[in-house]
Amino acid sequence: MKILFIGDIVGEPGRRAVKELVPRLRRQHELDVVIANGENSAGGSGITPATAREIFSAGVDIITSGDHLWDQKEVVELLQNESRFLRPLNYPPGTPGKGSVVYQADNQPPVGVINLQGRTFMPALDNPFTVIRAEVERMRQKTNIIFIDFHAEATSEKIAIGRMLDGKVSAVVGTHTHVQTADEQIFPGGTAYLSDAGFTGPHESVIGREIEPVIKRFLTLQPQRFAVAEKDVKLQGVLIEINAHTGQAEKIQRISERLS
Ligand SMILES: [Fe+2]
Ligand SMILES: [Fe+2]
Repeated sequence: MKILFIGDIVGEPGRRAVKELVPRLRRQHELDVVIANGENSAGGSGITPATAREIFSAGVDIITSGDHLWDQKEVVELLQNESRFLRPLNYPPGTPGKGSVVYQADNQPPVGVINLQGRTFMPALDNPFTVIRAEVERMRQKTNIIFIDFHAEATSEKIAIGRMLDGKVSAVVGTHTHVQTADEQIFPGGTAYLSDAGFTGPHESVIGREIEPVIKRFLTLQPQRFAVAEKDVKLQGVLIEINAHTGQAEKIQRISERLS
């Protein structure tokens, strides 16, 4: 089974990259499931039903999110009505929406997808380590093919989650920093791991935003408007091949494709 995971889609350039590249990547790699982090898809901050629709119609099956979840108020509609949209699992009980789903593609075994958020240098949600351990046990009653988007800042927190779940899930891939790391590997128990998938959007930027206002903010400590940048649009993510019987990963490959 082949899964493509796409790192944080940033603004209109990111959505354009998804629309233009995902249909080709689906054919070229004979993908079974495509998952994308959409937390920055609406103007760089948050997600709306309209931007989610664009992403789904490009051939994405499941959209995950992260700390920018609440930036657009229309997200509540997605949380309440869209079964293919996930928020971080470790929000307090009673939060609208859900943090995991069992997705079933045509003629394929079910795939569990979980969205989780770290709390090192981030808002203090419930402990991701205890929450994910319980959720993986529950999900393994239904399927042994499990993909986790761990939206977190600190590489140590990401690696620790990956190591804790080695052999229990098929893949743990990080998002949130918007910088693709080069540490893709398969752990001894068969879990594919990458600290960060990178981001999909304009790379002539500071993690997707215009360069000058960000520098000015660091220089002056005064608030600036951070517009989404425009140039050097890339789709970044990771391709993972999983043995559908054992749930173990067999191959992991980073993707970084420039939109021509
Ligand atoms: Fe992001
Ligand atoms: Fe984030």
